[in-house]
Amino acid sequence: MMKLFTTASLAALSCGSALVSGLPLQGRSTVHLRTRTSSSSSHGAAYFMTNEPTGNFVIAADIGSDGTLNLNRAVATHGLGSHGVSNPLGPDPLFAQGSVKASASGKLLAVVNPGSNTITAFSINPNDPSDITMIGEPVSSEGEFPMSLVASDSGDMVCVLNGGAVNGVNCFSVDEQKGLVSMPNTLRSLGLNQTTPPSGPPGTTSHIVFNEAGTQLIASVKGIPPTPGFLAVWDIESDGSLSPNFTAIEPQPTGALPFSMTIIPGQDALLVTDPGVGFDIFDFSAQPDTNGTAGGKSSAVPIDGQSATCWSSFSNQTGNFYLTDVGTGIVTEVNVDSNLKGTIVQQYPQGNGTSTIDNDVATVNNNDFLYVLAAGTTSVHVLSLPAPGQAQLIQTLDFSGPIQAAGLTITADNVQGMTAFVKA
Ligand SMILES: *[C@@H]1O[C@H](CO)[C@@H](O)[C@H](O)[C@H]1NC(C)=O
Ligand SMILES: *[C@@H]1O[C@H](CO)[C@@H](O)[C@H](O)[C@H]1NC(C)=O
Ligand SMILES: *[C@@H]1O[C@H](CO)[C@@H](O)[C@H](O)[C@H]1NC(C)=O
Ligand SMILES: *[C@@H]1O[C@H](CO)[C@@H](O)[C@H](O)[C@H]1NC(C)=O
Ligand SMILES: *[C@@H]1O[C@H](CO)[C@@H](O)[C@H](O)[C@H]1NC(C)=O
Repeated sequence: MMKLFTTASLAALSCGSALVSGLPLQGRSTVHLRTRTSSSSSHGAAYFMTNEPTGNFVIAADIGSDGTLNLNRAVATHGLGSHGVSNPLGPDPLFAQGSVKASASGKLLAVVNPGSNTITAFSINPNDPSDITMIGEPVSSEGEFPMSLVASDSGDMVCVLNGGAVNGVNCFSVDEQKGLVSMPNTLRSLGLNQTTPPSGPPGTTSHIVFNEAGTQLIASVKGIPPTPGFLAVWDIESDGSLSPNFTAIEPQPTGALPFSMTIIPGQDALLVTDPGVGFDIFDFSAQPDTNGTAGGKSSAVPIDGQSATCWSSFSNQTGNFYLTDVGTGIVTEVNVDSNLKGTIVQQYPQGNGTSTIDNDVATVNNNDFLYVLAAGTTSVHVLSLPAPGQAQLIQTLDFSGPIQAAGLTITADNVQGMTAFVKA
């Protein structure tokens, strides 16, 4: 049976966790965190952010030839973190996926600073991807509480989703010298009645993506049950501007809280996690109804026993999706067939209290690996994905120890984001 979203399951979104803090670090921009010496160069890097209200830092870890991680450095974004308002407070401070995003083609890393309403762009050294350099200065998101961003495939356009009292989307072109440059006619409102920081998780913005063809910009917004959430879809014009108004597509019939969106390759469709059910599948190839209802139809697939399934990524090697649940600490592998029917392939418990949130997949030496931010235990879990149904935990990387030892503040409830960059 499909489980309706309840206040009780909302509470499960927040797993209590202790504050682990060091001295706030002032003045230094880059802090080295190497956990072991490595002579061979890395194959890539995985990044997330500390999101501390006293100063946001990107944490960069080298990806080795076997997919495992080595902490490398913490780099100041010159912006501030923030935590949304929820009761109780817990992991997943931004109620979001996509707070940090690497662009392989653009050799670019973009990061939101929700506490200072800015975005920071870094160039990635392609020979040593943990080596990131801020481009220009942080730029205004032109809204409040920026919490998710996306880079175009070519890496020359970045769009941000603001989730506070001033909410909506805004896009930037990427200039190698100046960094992010606001693009005309891309600042678009969602018109949500929210506060800064926003109250949630219900009723908050979740994630921003481009469709596979790069012709639409899509933002997900959670409902406040029984009112369902929606996907807001803007058309991207040839000059890069956005259509003045968005089309809202609601999950049907049982979805309630659209969260992360992951492209289903070749199908003009999205897998959308939904902590009210499990996940939804939105089919954009469906024609608009004759009575004027927006195009796009959806179906919901329950994950039995789920608590808050909110994050997702896709592995090209296995052809499957990997969804994380902050409440149960379980990774769920999902297959979506050519008829857009979703089924659960396998589940991988990561342990009680891990509070698994953001995740991303990287291909290293033709092998895929899943990087999961286990916020509750301030660690990154690395899973190898050799074949469908055969994911295996190969590393648990604790990051709070080395980060505290370096004098930085790190809090389980504040960390957010996961994105990987692999050398060409
Ligand atoms: C916005 O939300 C607040 C708090 O829930 C409520 O008091 C207010 O009436 C809402 N405003 C509008 C225009 O809906
Ligand atoms: C956009 O929405 C506004 C307000 O609802 C409406 O007045 C306007 O006509 C719409 N514009 C387009 C191009 O649909
Ligand atoms: C439009 O048609 C669909 C079925 O095709 C129906 O579910 C929906 O309620 C209709 N909307 C309106 C506004 O009549
Ligand atoms: C994905 O896998 C297919 C073969 O299964 C391959 O042709 C394609 O290049 C891969 N794409 C990426 C982005 O690795
Ligand atoms: C995890 O937590 C659940 C619910 O609190 C409990 O039933 C289960 O025994 C726990 N599992 C382990 C391995 O501690």
